[in-house]
Amino acid sequence: MGIKEYVPPYLGTNLSDFDLLTGVSFASGASGFDPLTAKIMLVLTMDDQLELFKEYKVKLERIAGAERAAEIVSTSMYLIITGTDDLANTYFTTPFRRNYDLESYIEFVVQCASEFFKKLYGLGARRMNIAGAPPIGCVPSQRTNAGGLERECVALYNQAAVVYNAALEKEIKRLNGSDDMPGSVLKYIDLYTPLLDMIQRPQAYGFDVTNRGCCGTGVFEVTLTCNQYTAHACKDPNKFLFWDTYHLTERGYNLLLTQIINRDGLQ
Ligand SMILES: *[C@@H]1O[C@H](CO)[C@@H](O)[C@H](O)[C@H]1NC(C)=O
Ligand SMILES: *[C@@H]1O[C@H](CO)[C@@H](O)[C@H](O)[C@H]1NC(C)=O
Repeated sequence: MGIKEYVPPYLGTNLSDFDLLTGVSFASGASGFDPLTAKIMLVLTMDDQLELFKEYKVKLERIAGAERAAEIVSTSMYLIITGTDDLANTYFTTPFRRNYDLESYIEFVVQCASEFFKKLYGLGARRMNIAGAPPIGCVPSQRTNAGGLERECVALYNQAAVVYNAALEKEIKRLNGSDDMPGSVLKYIDLYTPLLDMIQRPQAYGFDVTNRGCCGTGVFEVTLTCNQYTAHACKDPNKFLFWDTYHLTERGYNLLLTQIINRDGLQ
């Protein structure tokens, strides 16, 4: 995205002033807009991440002075990429939110998202790029969990992503530059369409495999269970869209991001 080679985690060690001035990541893997999603997985909630952002702003002021720090915060681009685990994990895999039907759970998640955007705005952010959900039903782990013997895409999960994305996009359009958030620019990023195309037309992108991950068997392994001891990587990761059963390969992300930037750009 032309920012820098590697946007380091804010909680990483040995961050330089240069890193703090040019962008860091507050993301916590497996989190979600629904605070329960992070709690189930023992990771940081979105509110926890906002606390870190507040701490970051103090450091930024120390480095750049109050005026320049405020300018950096208000002119910087924010990428908000979460929500998938609310559906895939919390709703479809655990029993904890089954007191909601799918439609009302989606409404609840979008409400949580909306509150998050307003809080981030309150801390000075203006340019927010917000990703929707991918075709959750075609992610290798979900094919394994619920796609039957043939590991087909799970239609219900994809449908849930479509409904969620429509509701999220509508809320983003409502908030964008509204009286709730004057001067804000919110943009919805469609991951669903380009990723589904990559899954359905592998050859067009130079992939051989899009229904299994590169590491191990490709149908179970995810994050830490992909390692050199139990799950060897495939010979050529560039031929795989997915690295593990949930996350793309580096080449997969590269092609996805390139399409998004070339098509709509970011704000
Ligand atoms: C910490 O960062 C500084 C400057 O970027 C570098 O010179 C140093 O080697 C780093 N230390 C460690 C332990 O990585
Ligand atoms: C947000 O508002 C800006 C004007 O401030 C407009 O150019 C842009 O198209 C709007 N985006 C969305 C997603 O509504």
